[in-house]
Amino acid sequence: MDKLNIGIIGAGRIGRLHAEHLTRNGRVAIRQISDVYVTDELKDWAAGLGVPTVTDNYKDIMEDPDIDAVFICSSTNTHVPFITEAARAGKHIFCEKPISLDYRQTAAALEEVRAAGVILQTGFNRRFDHNFKRVRELVKAGRVGEPHLIKITSRDPAPPSNDYIKVSGGLFMDMAIHDFDMARYLSGSEVTEVYALGAVLVDPVIGELDDIDTAIISLRFANGALGVIDNSRKAVYGYDQRVEVFGSEGSVGVQNDHPNTAEISTANGVIRDNPKYFFLERYHDSYIDETRQFIDCILNGNQVPVDGNDAFQAEKIAYAAKVSLLEGRPVKLSEIEVGIG
Ligand SMILES: NC(=O)c1ccc[n+]([C@@H]2O[C@H](COP(=O)([O-])OP(=O)(O)OC[C@H]3O[C@@H](n4cnc5c(N)ncnc54)[C@H](O)[C@@H]3O)[C@@H](O)[C@H]2O)c1
Repeated sequence: MDKLNIGIIGAGRIGRLHAEHLTRNGRVAIRQISDVYVTDELKDWAAGLGVPTVTDNYKDIMEDPDIDAVFICSSTNTHVPFITEAARAGKHIFCEKPISLDYRQTAAALEEVRAAGVILQTGFNRRFDHNFKRVRELVKAGRVGEPHLIKITSRDPAPPSNDYIKVSGGLFMDMAIHDFDMARYLSGSEVTEVYALGAVLVDPVIGELDDIDTAIISLRFANGALGVIDNSRKAVYGYDQRVEVFGSEGSVGVQNDHPNTAEISTANGVIRDNPKYFFLERYHDSYIDETRQFIDCILNGNQVPVDGNDAFQAEKIAYAAKVSLLEGRPVKLSEIEVGIG
């Protein structure tokens, strides 16, 4: 196989982003895009990308024998059934995060993937960010010695819509899930214990929807290191995404990405533009790289850089954080028992 035929399910924010990047990759052809809402606007957009078929029935993709791989970019509650069907149809799978809101269902879907022998990559795109990748390389090379502290700041510029929050699975599963993966990635170790504090400080409606908008999450890792993640749904100055790994021999950290490095100095102070606004701007290149590597896995037999187990582990941490918040106590991951089969 030298060219990969792809089907995309879900043509919302992330599905369109992947489609646009994939059409610029000479090694793939998008054969079909599916969404429950097929509008003229969607058809025009797909035609502009040279995609021959738009369908409101995802089964058209599952049943197309010429499609080698499926991108699952629909709402989270559809991921498990779509993974199961794609695996049974023998198609490789790129699935957006999280795989599900229940790590036990994720385990069952991953069992289908294992049984079918297909490749599955999870959409933890931040691992492909140029800054975070460099931090990981330096930690892995032992440049900061033994990791002692992992600090992650992860704040959005504005909360999502109330409709999105209702089905998102909550701040831990929807937003901090990326940070749980980042914590595992940077430390090179599993999380063993979680203690989460949460508050509603941005918008009371978020509280009425049974969610939080602000959190501090403390982590303990199997290698002995400790971690802290701080989350907010609203940073008025833009997307705030910083990390630091502090260890026995030093520290490595990265600051935010800015659209430019211009600084204006006047009698009133030194001013520069805010950080890049949100994930589409900040992580643009990481999305391209994650799909490029997925294609490499299928065409060249490379190892999957972020697999189903990575999703499963992050979901377990999110679940533990939720229990911790509800019960007001630290929760050990060993309390959460199911394995991947
Ligand atoms: N990796 C990232 O940075 C990132 C960023 C945003 C969203 N996501 C994840 O991607 C997924 C989608 O998020 P989004 O922001 O694009 O949401 P969205 O609401 O913009 O898009 C989802 C699309 O899926 C479609 N859909 C729903 N059910 C479907 C079905 N049965 N068949 C076909 N299409 C269906 C909807 O009509 C919608 O167009 C979520 O799981 C989310 O967590 C990941």
